[in-house]
Amino acid sequence: MAERSIAASFLRFQRSFGIRQVRLVTGLILFSYLISHFTNHALGNISVPAMEEGMTYHLAFWRSWPVTIVFYTAALTHMSLGLWALYTRRQFRWVTTEMIQLVFGLSIPVLVIGHLVGIRLAASLLGHDKLYAQAFFAYWVYRPHVMWMLYAVLIVAWVHGCIGLFFWLRTKLWFKKAAGPLLAFAIFLPTVAMLGLYQGGRAIVRASASPEWRADNLNTGKVGTGADQILLDNIVQYALYVYLGLIVLVFVARGVRAIMERRGGLVRLSYGDGQTIQIPKGLSVLEASTRFNIPHSSVCGGRARCSTCRIRVIGDCAALPKPSSREAFVLERVGCGNDPAIRLACQLRPKSDVAFFQIFPARAGASALSQAIQTHAGKERYLVSMFVDLRGSTKLAEKLLPFDTVFIINRFLTAVSQAVVECGGRPNQFVGDGQLALFGLHTDPQTACRQAITAAGRISIHVDELNKFLGKDVPEPLRFGVGIHGGEVIIGDIGSHDHTVFTALGDAVNVTARLQDMTKQLTCEVVLSDEVRKTAGLPEKTWPPVEVPIRGRAEPMIVHAVKKAETLLKLGDDFASAAA
Ligand code: FES
Repeated sequence: MAERSIAASFLRFQRSFGIRQVRLVTGLILFSYLISHFTNHALGNISVPAMEEGMTYHLAFWRSWPVTIVFYTAALTHMSLGLWALYTRRQFRWVTTEMIQLVFGLSIPVLVIGHLVGIRLAASLLGHDKLYAQAFFAYWVYRPHVMWMLYAVLIVAWVHGCIGLFFWLRTKLWFKKAAGPLLAFAIFLPTVAMLGLYQGGRAIVRASASPEWRADNLNTGKVGTGADQILLDNIVQYALYVYLGLIVLVFVARGVRAIMERRGGLVRLSYGDGQTIQIPKGLSVLEASTRFNIPHSSVCGGRARCSTCRIRVIGDCAALPKPSSREAFVLERVGCGNDPAIRLACQLRPKSDVAFFQIFPARAGASALSQAIQTHAGKERYLVSMFVDLRGSTKLAEKLLPFDTVFIINRFLTAVSQAVVECGGRPNQFVGDGQLALFGLHTDPQTACRQAITAAGRISIHVDELNKFLGKDVPEPLRFGVGIHGGEVIIGDIGSHDHTVFTALGDAVNVTARLQDMTKQLTCEVVLSDEVRKTAGLPEKTWPPVEVPIRGRAEPMIVHAVKKAETLLKLGDDFASAAA
C-alpha cells in the first residue's frame, strides 16, 4: 500500500516537472550563490579584512567539490535554457519585465566571463591566489572600466533573478502578504553589497600606493605573470566568441523554423466571439493571441503554472495534440483533468483549425489565479446553484450516431458554460448532458442571484445560436431546463487523495436539481426558488408564485416557473443598469 502511494507520488512529481521547473531549480541555486556573494561584498562596509574573512567561509562552501559540480551544472543548464527560451519563444511582443529578464539573462555571461576567468579559472588552472585585495586592485586601479562592468553585472544578475522569482512566487496565494518584505530585501542586499564594494575599493586604492602593500599583494604567487594574463585574456576572448556564436546560431535556427512553418501551412483559430485569425502551425494559442493583440489572461506568462489561460475548445477535441505531462498535471490540479475540451492556451499548439472561448476574463490577474487553483478545505457559505439539463437527449441518442450525439452534447454544454462565465458564474460539474454552475464564490448573495437569473436568459441566446448552427443536423431544436436556488452550502474539494473536484454540497444544491426536474412537469424552461427572487431584490409580483412539494422535505416550497428563459434577459439589463 505504502509502496503504491510512494510510486503515485513519484509519478505525480515526475509529471509536474518540466523544462520550466529545471530552469527554476537551477535559477534558485544561482540565486543562492548571489545572496552569499553579495552578503560577502556587504562586509566591505566594515573593512577589507572582514570581506576576506567572510570569503573564506563563502569559498569553503561554494568551492567544495560537490557544490562546485552542482553549481556549474546549474549555471550551464540555466544558460542553455536561456538560449532555448530564445529559440522557442515565437514572438517578441513581451511585457517589459519578460523582455528585461531575457535580455539581462543573456547578457550575464558576457559581463561576468572576465571576472570568472580572471579569478576562478586562474585559481584552478594557474594556482593564482586572488582575493578581494587583488580583485580591487585589478578593477579599481589597473583596469578601472571593469569596476563599472562589475557593478553592471551585479545589478543585471540580481534583477534577472528577482524577476524569475517574482514570476514563480506571484502565483502563490501568500505572495501578496510577503511582497513588501521581499521587495525591501531585494533592494537592501544589492545596495549594501555595492556600498561594500565601493568602500573596499577605496581602501585598496589608498593602500596600493604603498610599495610594501604591492610587494605583499601583487607578487606572482598571488596574481601570476604577464604571460598568465595574456592566456587568461585569450580564454575570455574565445569564450565570448563561442557564446555570441551560439546566440547567432539560435537566430539562424529561428529563421529556418519560420520558413519551414510557412511551408507547413496555416491553421485558423476562432475565439468564439466572432474573432478569427490564421497562424502558422507550431504557435501556441496564447502566442497567437499575443501576436494578434487579442487580450488573453496569462498570469504566469505562459509557463504552465497558473491555468488562467485556460480555454474551452468548442466541438471535436480528437484532432488536438495530446496535452504534455506538465499541461495534464496543471489541468488535473484545477479539477479539469477529465475534460478533453479544457486546455491551457499557452501549451496547446493546434495542428488543425480550432474554435474555443477563454474561460477567464482576458485581463484576469493573480486574483483570478487564486480562484483557479485554490484548494478548498471545506467551508460554509451562501451560494446560488444552477442546474441546466438538455431535454430529449435520449431521443437524440436514438436518432444520431454516438459520435454525433457526443459532439452535440459538448456543443450544448459549451453554450451553457459560455453564458455562465459571461455572467460571472463558474461552470462546476458536468453530469451526463447536464451542468451544475455556481454563482457567488466571489460576490455577495444579491449579485449571485442576479448573475444566475441573467445567465439563464443568456443560455437561451447561446442555445438559439447553436440551433441555428446545427440546423437540420439535429432531428429537432435543442431544448433545456434550468433550476436555480440559493442557500448555505459547503464548498470544498471532494474526492480521493489522487483525484479531487471542487464543488458545493448541501440541501440547497439538491433542491436546485429537483427544481430543474420540475421544469418538465411545469412545462417551462426555468424554475427558480422564491428565495432567489427575494435575494435578487425582485418584487413579489415579478412572477406568480407556485407552491410545490419537494421530495425529502416536509414543507412545500414557493417557486416561480418562467416559461421562456429569454424573458429573463430584460431583468439582466435592469440589473446591469442598476449596478452602473
Ligand atoms: S499562462 Fe499560466 S498556465 Fe498558461
